[in-house]
Amino acid sequence: MGRGPLRLKSASCQIAYWESGELRIANYLTRRVFSANPATLDVIGFFFRPRTIQDALLGFRAYSRESVAKAILRLIDAQLLLEYDSAAQERDNRLASSWGPWLPEGGFHFITKDTPYVPWDWPVAKKLETLPATPAPPKSKRIRGAHSVRLPAHELAGDTFFETLRDRRTHREFGLGKISLENISKLLHATWGVQGYFHTDVFGKLPYKTSPSGGARHPGEVYLMALRVKGLKSGMYHYQSKDHRLASLPVKVSPRTASAYCADQPYFGEAAALFIMTAVFPRTMWKYRRARAYRVVLLETGHLCQTFCLTATRLGLAPFCTAALKDSLIENDLGLDGISESVLYVAGVGLVAGRPH
Ligand SMILES: Cc1cc2nc3c(=O)[nH]c(=O)nc-3n(C[C@H](O)[C@H](O)[C@H](O)COP(=O)(O)O)c2cc1C
Repeated sequence: MGRGPLRLKSASCQIAYWESGELRIANYLTRRVFSANPATLDVIGFFFRPRTIQDALLGFRAYSRESVAKAILRLIDAQLLLEYDSAAQERDNRLASSWGPWLPEGGFHFITKDTPYVPWDWPVAKKLETLPATPAPPKSKRIRGAHSVRLPAHELAGDTFFETLRDRRTHREFGLGKISLENISKLLHATWGVQGYFHTDVFGKLPYKTSPSGGARHPGEVYLMALRVKGLKSGMYHYQSKDHRLASLPVKVSPRTASAYCADQPYFGEAAALFIMTAVFPRTMWKYRRARAYRVVLLETGHLCQTFCLTATRLGLAPFCTAALKDSLIENDLGLDGISESVLYVAGVGLVAGRPH
């Protein structure tokens, strides 16, 4: 039996705006931007119900068949019209339905994925050309005319907590040795592990961790890429925070992959382990229905990363973090759909370069 005539449907993941006097329509899922004649909006509106090209030719018979067909072809090319029931339309639909309460604002998450990065090996002069010609804004703020008081000096030395805060640095060189499984375990438990539970009347038993989380929803998950860990086969693992276990995943790992994940920054490929942080958005979205809660998810990932960096510093290890990621590459490898669970941040650790271990 034939499939019948091709039916098209407008992508749900669209946002329109004006730029330099031109109307632009972006598909925030596919990240395609289209410069549109405002009349095209009618065509997009027409296809919010699945329809055939023949339907459109009839519906827009006041226009020439050629111009309608041309507009449809351009919209298909721009991924603003999708083949109904195709994989692309199914993905569009999945995002629209699962992120519904956070859209369209939450489209920011998708449109900023897989962004091009300034290549790390460009000469400095070429990198500088990417900056605006205007001077950098001041590095700190002083309110003119406001009276200020001197604060008492405080001594950091001797208090290991403050020393750890002070000593945290981003490392880009690492010792070649392995780090111990015990240290990996401490890093995972101190940062992502469940420390205990508390009871709430409305939501029942909720976990608490070392970092705060809006409504104790804890959307964060972490995947360990073990490259040089004593006592652990190199590979990819998912950390089961509830029972402090590592589940092995069928993903090939190598220093090259580690570097590729971090937008090809070669130094991070020399780390002993990467900690790939993701968020399971529905955990937070289920309770917080406004797009502002997306901020909460990002803020929490920052809390987790700082806890990780401080724990690594306290253990005498060399931490780093990066938000320059190849999102889709990571998500494909980890088997994530990039919609309900998406990568946000990567931290890593190695031995301190030049220090005997
Ligand atoms: C969100 C975030 C993203 C970062 N991304 C990168 C990165 O892609 N590559 C890198 O070498 N450092 C990255 N860094 C580290 C900063 O460059 C570093 O924190 C800064 O230079 C200050 O140095 P410090 O961390 O030693 O205090 C990132 C830091 C943060 C907070």
